[in-house]
Amino acid sequence: MTHQTSEARFLQSYRICAAQGEWMNQGAARLRAQVFVQEQGVFAGHDRDAIDAVALPLVAIAEDATGGPRVVGTVRIHEAEPGVWWGSRLAVAPEWRRVGKLGSELIRLAVGTARARGAVEFHAHVQRQNVPLFRRLHWATTAEVELHGRPHAHMLASLVHYAPIADPTTGWQVQAPGAVEDGA
Ligand SMILES: CC(C)(COP(=O)(O)OP(=O)(O)OC[C@H]1O[C@@H](n2cnc3c(N)ncnc32)[C@H](O)[C@@H]1OP(=O)(O)O)[C@@H](O)C(=O)NCCC(=O)NCCS
Repeated sequence: MTHQTSEARFLQSYRICAAQGEWMNQGAARLRAQVFVQEQGVFAGHDRDAIDAVALPLVAIAEDATGGPRVVGTVRIHEAEPGVWWGSRLAVAPEWRRVGKLGSELIRLAVGTARARGAVEFHAHVQRQNVPLFRRLHWATTAEVELHGRPHAHMLASLVHYAPIADPTTGWQVQAPGAVEDGA
């Protein structure tokens, strides 16, 4: 990582909100491709599927003086059947991981938004290496499953730990705690 990037991270604040407008939706799509196609190789070519037609994309927007606002995190949520919601395609850009709890904040907006829309269950298939993160956020494993050739946990959120969020378009601001050195 360059000095310039570290400097940019030091100056960061973020907004966690529902994607609004073309640049946020395109930014979320680009980030998903970068993470799930190029970085992880979970999908070949593209990671779009039928759920995208009905899902609500949520985003983390980095705001600073150096690069202008841009999408650095995303997740999508959808109601699969009445009251039963799912979250999927959670991704934070590599250089923004573990700096401002963006992943955790996206999960909070995801479950809170679904709760305000009547969710009685909120599910996710979580890659095994991320299970400790979800456990800490009050999720429980219901089954181990193999998906896309990778071990996943089918997990359920404990809804009482998530305040309903009626208007995800407003979202909230997150302040990154400070610069994180290379390899952090
Ligand atoms: C999973 C993912 C979204 C998490 O995003 P994130 O913004 O790093 O999430 P958070 O910062 O909220 O927390 C992540 C972890 O970093 C830790 N952390 C947060 N800030 C930290 C800091 N300053 N220093 C060290 N650790 C920190 C958290 O405690 C948490 O612990 P863990 O190692 O047990 O997971 C991100 O790693 C990612 O996009 N991974 C690739 C795609 C992927 O796996 N998607 C999920 C599919 S289920």
